[in-house]
This record gives sequence, C-alpha cells and structure tokens, in this order.
Amino acid sequence: GVHAVVEFSEKECIAALQDGTRILSTNHESTVPFKTRLLTLRFNHPGDQAAAQMSVKCLKQSTIPINELIQKLSSVDSIDQQVDLLTREYQLTEENIRLRFLVCSLLKDIAAAYFPESSVKPFGSSVNTFGKLGCDLDMFLDLDGNSGRKVGKTAGPYILEYQMKQVSSERMVTQSILSVIGECIDQFGPGCVGVQKILNARCPLVRFSHQPSGFQCDLTANNRIAMRSSELLYVYGSLDPRVRALVFSVRCWARVHGLTSSIPGAWITNFSLTMMVLFFLQRRSSPIIPTLDQLKSLAGTDGKCIIEGHDCTFVTNLSKITLPENTDTPGQLLQEFFEFYGNFTFSKNSINIRKGKEQNKPEASPLHIQNPFEQSLNVSKNVNQTQLEKFVTLARDSAWTLQQNEVSHPSGTHPWGLAALLLPSVSQTAGKNKNKRKRQPASERIKSLLDSIKASKVTKTTDVFCKSAKKKSL
Ligand code: CTP
Ligand code: MG
Repeated sequence: GVHAVVEFSEKECIAALQDGTRILSTNHESTVPFKTRLLTLRFNHPGDQAAAQMSVKCLKQSTIPINELIQKLSSVDSIDQQVDLLTREYQLTEENIRLRFLVCSLLKDIAAAYFPESSVKPFGSSVNTFGKLGCDLDMFLDLDGNSGRKVGKTAGPYILEYQMKQVSSERMVTQSILSVIGECIDQFGPGCVGVQKILNARCPLVRFSHQPSGFQCDLTANNRIAMRSSELLYVYGSLDPRVRALVFSVRCWARVHGLTSSIPGAWITNFSLTMMVLFFLQRRSSPIIPTLDQLKSLAGTDGKCIIEGHDCTFVTNLSKITLPENTDTPGQLLQEFFEFYGNFTFSKNSINIRKGKEQNKPEASPLHIQNPFEQSLNVSKNVNQTQLEKFVTLARDSAWTLQQNEVSHPSGTHPWGLAALLLPSVSQTAGKNKNKRKRQPASERIKSLLDSIKASKVTKTTDVFCKSAKKKSL
C-alpha cells in the first residue's frame, strides 16, 4: 500500500526510466506482457542495510478510526472548530486526488488500445470537493474523440467518411464498449481485481478494485450529465467553506448511524445527502448559496450547455456570483439542518435545488429530490419509507443533542457537540433523555432491515438501484 506519484518535467526522463525497468519477476509461471506506467520499486539487494534504514514519510490515505475522531473532536472548544476539524480529517489530500487522476490515466492506456483518442476522466466525489478519503473513484470514458461527431471542414465535391459499425442504439454502443474494456481490465490490468460488468443498469458500468491504489472504481461511458453535475457541486463547494463543512459533517453522521452504506440498497446516498444540504443552505433567510436557476441566469451566452436535450447551463466563473451577507456559524447551521429536516413535510414536498424552494411531489416515492438537470428524475428514488423515517428520527434526536450541548457543554474529553452525534448511541441516549422515543424492539429493527433488503431487490431487478445506476443519474 505504499506508493508514490512521480511527475517528470521532461518526457525523455520517462523514456529513460522505462528503458531501465525490468519485467516484473514473480513466482507465478508467467505474466501478461502488458506494460503500464505502474512500477514497483524493490531493493536491489534484499537485506541491504543502508536501504533498509531508509525511512519514507508516508502521507495519510485513509481516515482516522471513528473513536479517535470522536476523541479529537471532544478536545476542541466549539462546535465550529469540531466541524472544521472533521472536514480537515476527512477531505481528500492533494496527493490522493493526484493518485485518482493517475489511475484514470492508467485506465486510459488500456482503453487506448482500441480507442486511441479516448480519455478517462474522474467525476463524482473524487473531484467535486466533497470527497472523503477512501471514497470510490468514478470514472468516465470519454469517446468523443472517436465518435466522429467533430466534423472537419470539407472543400470540393467529395466527402470522406470513416466506416463504422452501425448499431441500433447509443445504449448498445456503450454496453459493447464497456464489455470489451471491462474484459481488458480484467485480463490485462495489473492489480485490477473483482471486475464486474454491470451492463444492464440504467447507466452501464464496469466495477472493480484497483489494488495498488486501494480504490474501488466504477467506469462508465456516455455519462456527460453526471460529469456536469460534478462540476455544479464543485461550484457550490467552492462558494463558501461552510458548504463543504456541513456536507462532511452530515455525510459522516449518516455513515456512523447506518443511514448510508457502501452496499446498494434502499438507503440514502451521499449524493442525495449533498443535495439536501445544498437545498437547506438555499432556504436560509439570507441564502448561503444561490439556486441553480440563479446560476443559470448568470451564465453568458458562451456558458450555454445542453446535454442530451437537457439544459445544463450554469455559470462557472465564481467571481460573477454575489450573495447576501450571512453570518451563520457552522455549528448553528448543523443544528438547524437537523431541525429543518426533522420537520420537513416529505410526504408532500420535493427538494429542488434548481428552484431553491419546496415543490409539490410529482410521484409517490417517500423521498423526492429532483435531479438538477434531468428534471423528471428523482435522485433518491431508491429510498424507502423505513429509511426515510430513520433519517427523520435521527435528525430530530441530533438537533436535540446539539441543543443540550449549546446550553452547557461538559469540560474534559467527554464527547459533546458533533462528537456526541457520532456516538452510535445518539438516538438511544437522546431518546432516553427526552423520554420521547424508545429504541425499536428487535422485531421492528429486523422488519426494517428486511424492508430495505426487499426494496433493494425490487429496484435491482428493475435496474434503477442507485449505486449501479447512478451514473446516468436516476
Ligand atoms: N449521480 C447522479 N445521479 C444520481 C447519483 C449520482 O447524477 N442519482 C452523479 C453525481 O454527479 C455523483 C456521481 O454521479 O456525484 C457519482 O455518484 P456516487 O459515486 O454515488 O456519489 P459521489 O458524489 O461520488 O459520492 P460518494 O463519495 O458516495 O462516492
Ligand atoms: Mg463516488
């Protein structure tokens, strides 16, 4: 797990390095002769004292264990400091982001065997400023260079055209390309293991683990809207530090309480949680971030962006965005976030960051969060009633816990404020103290678990479950 991303200033140096690199020697019978730019550095003479003493300072690539985080959070003086500390502990480091770009470029090398003009770009939390150390690596195989869409100028009576295979739909093209690239990753990709081709999902993808980097990877193609929504989140995350701070705290809180999971199912996703935070920040009496429609109106004619018939226009020049002054502290926002959603009428209203206002819910899903660009889609379609209720209950309990700490927070290292919210027992403690909510009996808990599994199976068969289908945005 120790690796270095090495960047060279001269191309020649790379050629020289490659010249001096040997073919990997293993105990296996043979190796696949597919060279990548992922090299292993070994000691030339095992047991060499000087080499063994060489110490390497490694930068952290994973988050600290939750109990250590709780301890650290408990030792600072205010909830604002806690929120800030959590963000610093969890956010991606610059090196980790570079490693993500490197893995994309290694994948590009594989894809380039068939599609020399293709590129592989990261999207999602790896680049949208909301990534936590250890988050998955979402990749987009961009084949526009190969698709022949860019038409060159022609003069004279003749036109030259590439002969290309014709198939009946864009989806089939994506499926067959991902199938072949998935096969190559499986057969030739060093350290690429557990390759699954999930081609019947709403947005087909190839999922695998990249062992050298430790990343769980999802490779998709033909997924421009998700790329654009990553850009939108980047804009929001860059507008005000309180945006990221709140998203990190809420994501961490949700994970600790099992509201989110790495397994696809009826639970809320990080993407949905981020949308909820953004919406909440738009709903402040003095909004902390603008609505998507406002961002759209600030984009000049150059900024117009239509993808697959959907208007994805918004301003990307941050200096064009001015906002009313708002002095809410991160701690205050965290508490009010929980109050806001603890009392939100999910049964009637949908969350809509384009308008920055509740809208009437167009469909029966328990939680409705409108996709910012594909407006007829609900990004949280997978969430069932049980999971939503769990979210609301925990939100209420957490608002209450924070309120108690506001009045008096204990001295010493006793978990308080945000740290108290991350204790697995928050709902029980809050419930006990308030004498308002009892822990569910075991039978109820089993029932909700079964409901979640059932819902996940149903959505799986209809191909709309979030994690696999997410890329095309549900
Ligand atoms: N996406 C979307 N619609 C969804 C789900 C996802 O448009 N229903 C897009 C978003 O741009 C999202 C990206 O796909 O950022 C990647 O999805 P996912 O990996 O689920 O979310 P991340 O934002 O990357 O968060 P995480 O850290 O959980 O991976
Ligand atoms: Mg992701």
